[in-house]
Amino acid sequence: MSYFADKQTLVADIFSRYPDSPQGRRSALMPLLREVQDAEGFVSGSRMDEIAALCGTTATEVRSVMSFYSTYHTLPTGKYHLQVCSTVMCSLAGSDELWDHLVSELDVQPGEVSPDGRFSVQKVECLGSCGTAPLIQINDDGYYEKVTPGKCASILKALRADLQPLPDNPVPVTVNAEGRQVLASGEAVGASVTGLNQLPPFHGGEA
Ligand code: FES
Repeated sequence: MSYFADKQTLVADIFSRYPDSPQGRRSALMPLLREVQDAEGFVSGSRMDEIAALCGTTATEVRSVMSFYSTYHTLPTGKYHLQVCSTVMCSLAGSDELWDHLVSELDVQPGEVSPDGRFSVQKVECLGSCGTAPLIQINDDGYYEKVTPGKCASILKALRADLQPLPDNPVPVTVNAEGRQVLASGEAVGASVTGLNQLPPFHGGEA
């Protein structure tokens, strides 16, 4: 069953944020992926086909874009998707041992969901907080920093009771309903498309 068939207003709103051109339609790929993933937890092959048709591209290109961002999932994830940074600073600070502990403790491998539906795990690249390594991100919620074996054990214990501890550092920037980047405080950051100045026309060859 089509996901977007009864969401034409939403689709039109997303496309209205981009130029009315083939390139503009392809630019809508990421928010369409986000919409499906937020609703269904992952983006299946049939959803990729649907998004590809909307954007005037191929499912291969959709999958290729998804593969570049660890935030998109092609398989279902657990209620708590634990993402362990495995880049060098976190690795030096113990993320390899942390990873080994997690997969053994939860008895789950990447791409799998634990039998109780609670946990899935993924290695990710640098999360941009190397000074607080090693780092785990849970879902899109925020960073758990300087995760020692003891801290990891207490986080897992809390998650098993569905009492997710507050992250040490909430993800600082999210995107609001208008498509603007905002801080946790609600303050808008970055440029608004409507606030950008148009470049003057280019006259090739002029001094
Ligand atoms: S290496 Fe892990 S946050 Fe940068």
